[in-house]
Amino acid sequence: MTKNFRSDLPQWHALDDHSKTMKDTYIRDLFKADDKGEKTRFDDFHIRLDSMLYDFSKQRLNRDTIDKLCAYAQACDLEGWRSKMFGGEAINITEDRAVLHTALRNGTDEGLMINGQDIHTDIKATLKKMKVFSNALREEKRFTHIVNIGIGGSDLGAAMAYEALRPFADPTINVHFVSNVDASHLAEALKNVEPEKTLFIVASKTFTTQETITNANTAKRWLQEKLGVQDVSDHFVAISQNIDGAAQFGITPDRIFPIWDWVGGRFSLWSAVGLALCIGIGYDNFATMLGGAHAMDTHFKTAPLRENIPVMLSLIGMWNRNFLNYESLAVIPYDQYLHRFPAYLQQLDMESNGKSVDRNHHRIPYHTGPIIFGEAGTNSQHAFFQLIHQGTNIVPCEFIMTIKSQNPTGDHQNKLLANAIAQTKALMDGRTHDDPHKVFEGNRPSSTLVLEELTPYTLGMLIALYEHKIFVQGVLWNINSFDQCGVELGKVLAGQIVQSLDKTTKQVGDAPDTDSSTDGLIRLVHQSS
Ligand code: F6P
Repeated sequence: MTKNFRSDLPQWHALDDHSKTMKDTYIRDLFKADDKGEKTRFDDFHIRLDSMLYDFSKQRLNRDTIDKLCAYAQACDLEGWRSKMFGGEAINITEDRAVLHTALRNGTDEGLMINGQDIHTDIKATLKKMKVFSNALREEKRFTHIVNIGIGGSDLGAAMAYEALRPFADPTINVHFVSNVDASHLAEALKNVEPEKTLFIVASKTFTTQETITNANTAKRWLQEKLGVQDVSDHFVAISQNIDGAAQFGITPDRIFPIWDWVGGRFSLWSAVGLALCIGIGYDNFATMLGGAHAMDTHFKTAPLRENIPVMLSLIGMWNRNFLNYESLAVIPYDQYLHRFPAYLQQLDMESNGKSVDRNHHRIPYHTGPIIFGEAGTNSQHAFFQLIHQGTNIVPCEFIMTIKSQNPTGDHQNKLLANAIAQTKALMDGRTHDDPHKVFEGNRPSSTLVLEELTPYTLGMLIALYEHKIFVQGVLWNINSFDQCGVELGKVLAGQIVQSLDKTTKQVGDAPDTDSSTDGLIRLVHQSS
């Protein structure tokens, strides 16, 4: 197959040439020039959708940059790829799968056939099952502790959203999330639950993931011991595509909620993988979250590129990554309830776009997904903002602000928001000083996403926005965002090494590898008493 890289496109070259002038441009000078015109720079460089606003005026770009980025997106046939995704084409080429997390929230009756099956019938039946199950559980109060056992996409989305929506959660039902194979994670969760009143949800698309199955088996043994009975199936629910695996574990068929191969793990929050969240916040709130995500889907599908928030968020990310050469991206939510959002986004983005081979199976000559990190503001200011302001790397920032607090108290909220806005200005303006230690170079780009309030609806919009950002960037880089081959090798080696660590069956020296570091570490663990 001929190599046909995105970086060969004339529109890429046009951006490359343009970046040479923009590299010497100061963002504050762009404001000075633009604010004299008919429209201020802020007027022209923000997009509003319902109660969400995306301000990208503090990025190092001008109208010409935006035109060139949009021309590049068109040259990549972004609109065509978008239709393919929504239409159920198998755009996940390495796994030959459709990518239809958007169907989980579109509430339509229109049939969409995938592998000979109308997926909307399946979606509606599963949502109904979730509704009946969660309503009954919340009313009966037989179970007041819910422990979700899952990892990666079967954990992070629901865990993040549960934290984000705590003000909407039933305080008499405690939802816990256990993911790490480190026994301490489960042990600490079990310290806080009453065995008779505990329901375990084992969320695993494959039902083979080492961490999840290990934790689920330990939870089952713990419950059997505590309750003094063998049959604890009443305390377990599974969410899986592997019905046989869940049944073998001992979960009765009526308690297995399905998930399908056209939903990727990290995009699965909207399916039964969100059951723990749904129980915590109630089905109606869960459905409202789906509605917010659907509103973002509609915007993404219909708004012109220049007025399309996911598209502009993606294009600006690419501008920073490929043309201004910034390697990372800090995502800073100024809302304590979003404190798990950066961790969630790390999986969503880095597991999707941390790729170096394109859809034509060639190693690509340009960079893809940035390194994502973040922490809630203002804690982040007292941790890593020193580097963001004065370090040698330029780190573009995405600030997320919610205007209304769920806990309005004195002047807390104004102080919180003042800090967020101040960071955007300090990063852009910088400061001159006689003492070189006190100089801030400035000209550091940031965008700000503003939500009027954090609710199930706006959270749904926010998550769907980032899902689409990642999809769009995958198209811009011509990579498959929907597989995760890069996590396999570590899993295989861990499977071999765990055998070498087993003192009952192995002798020291049975390690599978020959390098002295790996051997040395294995011996050290093996020899410790
Ligand atoms: O991290 C790799 C991964 O395959 C994720 O993509 C997935 O969300 C996670 O493991 C858990 O997989 P499962 O739901 O099959 O247990």
